[in-house]
Amino acid sequence: MQKLIVGNLKMNMENLSQRDTYGKDFLEEFKQMKTKNHVAVCPPMIYLEYFYKLLNKTGVSIGAQDCFWELYGSYTGNTSPKTIKSIGAQFVIVGHSERRQYNHETDEDVARKVLMALRVELMPIVCVGYNSGGEEIDNVKEQVEFIVKNFSQDEIENIIFAYEPVWAIGSGKTPTTDDVHTMIMYIRSIIAATHGKECAEGVGILYGGSVVAENVTDLCTKTYADGVLVGGASLSPRKFAQIVRMLN
Ligand code: 13P
Repeated sequence: MQKLIVGNLKMNMENLSQRDTYGKDFLEEFKQMKTKNHVAVCPPMIYLEYFYKLLNKTGVSIGAQDCFWELYGSYTGNTSPKTIKSIGAQFVIVGHSERRQYNHETDEDVARKVLMALRVELMPIVCVGYNSGGEEIDNVKEQVEFIVKNFSQDEIENIIFAYEPVWAIGSGKTPTTDDVHTMIMYIRSIIAATHGKECAEGVGILYGGSVVAENVTDLCTKTYADGVLVGGASLSPRKFAQIVRMLN
């Protein structure tokens, strides 16, 4: 089955010259890249169009790192999922732990964003795993259940989940493959409880947190994840390309 490899560039490339250098190096790595998998990159919102145009012919998809929960109106500073879609993006990351932490996003906010993303046919990548102080497993349960209970089976099939243990993000530490596998199975069981086993098996579940070329094969294949969400390593096009090659 095809894996999905997503690079989350977060709030990096803080000027145009850094963006251009990154773009040039990325294109160099990916223009001849042959992969059976699906690769996507999520740049800062303001560079979405630039990356779409740059990578249009490479087969690499574009995603946004967030969106707003309405399609238009007086919401100063927010970005409509419709605008993101119209630029050519295919994905939108929603509910990343950094947004839950720094922007105080709740499960309800996340669900509203997912609803609007689906409405314009953007595929939401819903991040779960934020540890707000309790047990991580309870956090994951709450976050996944909130989505599962608010969306129909048809909608759930168009949502991707990304399990990202907050302590693994940017730390160089990763859970064991057994732990990731257990959590992926657990997320599927929550989906299955409401929408049935068949639906649960069709939903994409990614792993994210300190993924690099050296650990991606184990973290993705031994865990039966449907792909990976890569932060730090995607800031180097060469390292990101190595990750993609490892899964070929
Ligand atoms: P790192 O790969 O830097 O740990 O980041 C993971 C992440 O937050 C991806 O969304």
